[in-house]
Amino acid sequence: MTETLIGVVGGSGLYEIDGLQDAAWVTVETPWGVPSDQILTGELDGVKMAFLPRHGRGHVHAPSDVPYRANIDALKRLGATDVISVSACGSFREEMAPGDFVIVDQFIDRTVARDKSFFGSGCVAHVSVAHPTCPRLGDACETAARDAGITVHRGGTYLAMEGPQFSTVAESKMYREQWGADVIGMTNMPEAKLAREAELCYASVAMVTDFDSWHPDHGAVDITAIIATLQGNSSNGAELVRRLPAILGPERSTCPHGCDTALEYAIITAPE
Ligand code: ADE
Repeated sequence: MTETLIGVVGGSGLYEIDGLQDAAWVTVETPWGVPSDQILTGELDGVKMAFLPRHGRGHVHAPSDVPYRANIDALKRLGATDVISVSACGSFREEMAPGDFVIVDQFIDRTVARDKSFFGSGCVAHVSVAHPTCPRLGDACETAARDAGITVHRGGTYLAMEGPQFSTVAESKMYREQWGADVIGMTNMPEAKLAREAELCYASVAMVTDFDSWHPDHGAVDITAIIATLQGNSSNGAELVRRLPAILGPERSTCPHGCDTALEYAIITAPE
């Protein structure tokens, strides 16, 4: 058994979590640079937690400039076993309405201007991301959301776009009708890929703020509407996170889905 440490990467609207015992903001250095912010460590229901605001307190990092590698590495260095990503998203589905949460399980990565791997020349590795999220963690997030009375959808494909502009109507319709995406956001990639390379279980909770630009009855997406929805959503996001330690418990065994052994057959550079 291993001691559980739940890492939480909080998105827009979620910049800290209340109620941690022995709470302390700690500075973590990594070879990949400085993480988005200090990390809030502490314990909740007897389980270790580490909370990192993805955009930094004060929302200073744009999606393309979030130091994704430093963030995942910093959580790993603190001993994280599990990472829960919380983020805002637009919806391509009528039934996934603003205010709802989606436990995403697939991604289409359309980001183009980010460092996406801890590996490269010198040490070459190809991990599988066929199933990029951990079903065990997804179950925990779903239970936490339902217990908190949040409308939650289990499963969905998240299109990760570069931004910072939102999509055109043509793009929005293409992602929805031709590509089968369910939600869209700017931050879950390369975060999910890096979590897999770091052998961390990863689940993504996407909080719907808008219908992007495809919906005939809703105009183009705009940031004022997103912020208004986020103000309601983020207390739900915090409530979901607060329920996770009691569900996951202080100890965990090896991931039955192999998230924590992802590198076993992935590194192909010969050892020296
Ligand atoms: N984040 C929240 N809503 C979004 C949208 N419509 N597109 C991209 N990122 C988002």
